Amino acid sequence: MKKYNKSPLPFQGQKRNYLKIFNRELQKLCGDGTGWTIVDVFGGSGLLSHNAKYTCPNARVIYNDFDNYTERLSKIETAEQVRRDLLTFVNGYSKYEQLTDETREQIINYLHGKEIDYLTMYNYILYSGNFASSLEDIKKSTKFYNRISKISLSCDGYLEGVETVHKCFTELMKDEFNGNVLYLLDPPYINTNQGYHRDKNNYFGLLSQLTLFELMKPPFFYFTSNKSEVMDFVDHENKYSHLFNNCETFTTKNTVSGRSAYFDILITKTI
Ligand SMILES: C[S@@+](CC[C@H](N)C(=O)[O-])C[C@H]1O[C@@H](n2cnc3c(N)ncnc32)[C@H](O)[C@@H]1O
Repeated sequence: MKKYNKSPLPFQGQKRNYLKIFNRELQKLCGDGTGWTIVDVFGGSGLLSHNAKYTCPNARVIYNDFDNYTERLSKIETAEQVRRDLLTFVNGYSKYEQLTDETREQIINYLHGKEIDYLTMYNYILYSGNFASSLEDIKKSTKFYNRISKISLSCDGYLEGVETVHKCFTELMKDEFNGNVLYLLDPPYINTNQGYHRDKNNYFGLLSQLTLFELMKPPFFYFTSNKSEVMDFVDHENKYSHLFNNCETFTTKNTVSGRSAYFDILITKTI
């Protein structure tokens, strides 16, 4: 089985920097996975599900694809063709070089009317920190850069052996599973704009956060960061202290666009 250390198509919030610790702690708890169901409740790109299946091949792994990321994966060959076509426009440019207005126009003309995975595409021509989900968004950027990857896109075997569901966490966490169950909990951080991935009705805010606390039970691996206030619930006595008693925490430093730094935190509760 091929091992992926990042998601096949870009996904904001994927836990690629966490995989070493995650796989190690997972192996410690579940061994080869026999008798375990691992539920990736906030599945995002499926990177944790993929790694869980790789590390614990005998486990039943459930990937909750709330964002319909699998639909993007099903069109990865089209995205790959677009990547290759874009490379032809930047022939002669060095990596990260700003493109001329003429090349920018050519690229916009090329994109026009095509089915494009903009969440992949914008990374190729906009500077990091920018975001685009449509041609209109792309056009708002007056400066394009050559950031096109030379590595081809592929997702062969990525979700092999993994079961995919599409549910709100409130529904999934009420489902019953046989044997030992480990919950992977990587919700949007409530004070970042990640919660705005979807429409207002699906916004993951304070109410969702507290609902999750009400529904969650050990064992679980909970991902958060020092930008969220979840650690306050771990460090101070409160209504949810029972959830976090005897947990372990693992912290890694992240740097965003070479500017600000924040810490990703994994809280494991295994007993
Ligand atoms: C931090 S991301 C998870 C990233 C994932 N662990 C990865 O490595 O790619 C949080 C995910 O929770 C999803 N989400 C938001 N509201 C949700 C809900 N009500 N139920 C389930 N998932 C939800 C978001 O759309 C997003 O994909």
